Amino acid sequence: MGIFIVFEGGEGSGKSTQARLLYGLLLQEGHSSVLLHEPGGTSAGDQIRRILKSQHGESQKSQRGKRKSSLSPMTELLLFSAARTELVNQTLIPALKKERVVVCDRYTASTIAYQGYGRGLPLDLIQQLNRVTTQGNDPSLVVLLNIDPEKGLSRVQAQGAMLFDEGVGSSPGRMDEEGLRRFEEESVEFHQRVREGYLELAREEPERWLVVDATLPRERVAELIWQRVEPLLKAQ
Ligand code: TYD
Repeated sequence: MGIFIVFEGGEGSGKSTQARLLYGLLLQEGHSSVLLHEPGGTSAGDQIRRILKSQHGESQKSQRGKRKSSLSPMTELLLFSAARTELVNQTLIPALKKERVVVCDRYTASTIAYQGYGRGLPLDLIQQLNRVTTQGNDPSLVVLLNIDPEKGLSRVQAQGAMLFDEGVGSSPGRMDEEGLRRFEEESVEFHQRVREGYLELAREEPERWLVVDATLPRERVAELIWQRVEPLLKAQ
């Protein structure tokens, strides 16, 4: 079996940049690798991504301050889960069977952090769904790019997601350059809950998680990640 590495983090954490940097380094070092990004990456997954992008979530308000309810948190959860099911079956499992190193930008922890801690859906239900969608394909390493949400969101606003990622190319599986945006408009409190969720998951499984201070220089972050990835490659 291959090696499975996941990147997680809040908005503006630089997680996608680091996922791409690691992917580039893996290729450079001669490792057959695959870079994935959730949600999306399959035909159905891309269509689901489009729905998530076009429909507003329940907790978002319209311009007049009235709540829109075109997409309930439960629907959101099921859509992310459906997109993941396709990606796991069509891409992840075949790649791992071919001994590839798979780098995935977001995975099950995003669902626990955003739909569980953020939206308040029951964690046990999400965990059950995660087990079904992944069929036991858990990452060997989860890298959390940890950042204060206020800092992360201001990075997104100041630079725009694309500028922040400048020079590293766009992420495969992500067809809309500007991203989903639906969570960038959520309150700081929402993003603080998401961050707390991530940190709780990292505390529960320190051997699987690497928490990196996302405010460190990009090169230093990449170095810390590589230090943790290298032994995994040697053990393969
Ligand atoms: P996206 O535009 O793909 O960019 P990024 O991953 O760089 O933030 O945004 C995906 C959004 O979807 C992000 O705000 C987190 C959210 N998300 C969930 O809420 N649950 C999930 O299970 C996944 C995979 C993502």
